[in-house]
Amino acid sequence: MASRVIPVDPFDLVIFGGTGDLACRKIIPGLYRRYLAGQIPPGARIIGAARADLGHDAYREMVRAAIRDHVSENKQIPETVATFVEHIHYVQLDARGVTGWKELGGLLRKGVIRAFYFSVGPGLFADLAERLVQHGLNSAGARVVVEKPFGHDLQSARELNAVLARCFDEHHIYRIDHYLGKETVQNLMVVRFGNTLFEPLWNARYVDHIQITVAETVGVAGRGEYYDRAGAMRDMVQNHMMQLLCLIAMEPPSMFAADAVRDEKLKVIRALDPVSAGDLVRGQYTRKGDIPSYREDVDNPDSLTESFIALKAHISNWRWTGTPFYLRTGKRLKARVSEIAVVFKKPPHSIFGRQGGRSGNMLVIRLQPNEGIVLNVTIKEPGPGGMRLIEVPLDMSFAETLGEDRADIPDAYERLIMDVIRGNQTLFMRGDEVEAAWAWTDPVIAAWEESGNEPLPYEPFSSGPEDALMLMHRKGRRWREIADEL
Ligand code: BG6
Repeated sequence: MASRVIPVDPFDLVIFGGTGDLACRKIIPGLYRRYLAGQIPPGARIIGAARADLGHDAYREMVRAAIRDHVSENKQIPETVATFVEHIHYVQLDARGVTGWKELGGLLRKGVIRAFYFSVGPGLFADLAERLVQHGLNSAGARVVVEKPFGHDLQSARELNAVLARCFDEHHIYRIDHYLGKETVQNLMVVRFGNTLFEPLWNARYVDHIQITVAETVGVAGRGEYYDRAGAMRDMVQNHMMQLLCLIAMEPPSMFAADAVRDEKLKVIRALDPVSAGDLVRGQYTRKGDIPSYREDVDNPDSLTESFIALKAHISNWRWTGTPFYLRTGKRLKARVSEIAVVFKKPPHSIFGRQGGRSGNMLVIRLQPNEGIVLNVTIKEPGPGGMRLIEVPLDMSFAETLGEDRADIPDAYERLIMDVIRGNQTLFMRGDEVEAAWAWTDPVIAAWEESGNEPLPYEPFSSGPEDALMLMHRKGRRWREIADEL
């Protein structure tokens, strides 16, 4: 079941922030894996640009180290690494000054796909974009890739969009949400729109509720400064979870093409009701043994930022009115798991009497770990002695289905970077989508800030604050366990 690798056209990719953490952990290892797979052609040029005073050789050494540290050992083929680094160049550059721009211009070729990856803090986006124009480097068709956080609120997102729009056409702006590059997230669209089985049931008539969980075991140490200004709502809900919600809830686009898909996602965001205070629970992890508390991690003893959030959202449209969407995400939870559970209504009447029970079906789409899809169905418990019903999973674990090829599923960044080169924006956020997501998020945050709402404490490696469970229990529903197994 090996997938076909189609090489992309030759390109010049400039990574601003080329010595940074994201470049070393994700971008460069991702490019190497694509090179190893045969997708990057001999004519490609990857140019790291950063403030550090390095030459090509020192940067190539850094690239080798990034591969050593972040690519699985069985993919570290010395000859391949050696030829890969020949594609690598470096420019010492000052985003706000004059240093390096001429040299950068000298490395960029005419008639080759050109992409600029802004792997830097958002404070530098405007400077970079404007310098590119000033030095005439944003040739027609040049693409720009921007990382999250895309703004801190609606106002700042609008400003960022405006800056980018002055320098690039929207069709050349690639706003990354790496969740969209995850294998199962794309599979979500195929499961919904590539089968006839689910779509007729995919509405408020048959779906009781939908749960989206993104739980992590890690804390925020190391990123405290950023995280304490963001919190779970800005860091996860406004972007990654919003994207999952959109893909689960959107109407079928007329085709799998960038604007067709993004138009449908936008409609979902715009149909979201404001979240009422009673439908939201914020939490903050406490200390447990040697594990520092959130406040210790961010070095802010008075912090009111949430490291956990659970909320109930409603989409006001024909398909979904009456079906709540429960979202929950947090750090230092029981297990690392991202999944979506579509919980169907129970059959209206049980012909099997009390003993039989009446359970609903559930479709669980697991993003990580153990990617796969499980459909719970009710069957008769085998054996004599009456009609007892039990629930069993119809399990489609990708690891089993795809066998050894599972190891070849590209990381989200690999796929997304190749999409940039191919000029395919389907898995990237459009400017209006990002703004609509902030327009929904801002009032929710403003409401808790105004009311002085304090996050509730929760123990590390738990399921979050008790009140988050109550959000469901009140309506006779239950969250799924936060657990590794599907
Ligand atoms: C990032 C967030 O965007 O996504 C992090 O800023 C979070 O806080 C991460 O840990 C989760 O990504 P993944 O791919 O590990 O689920």
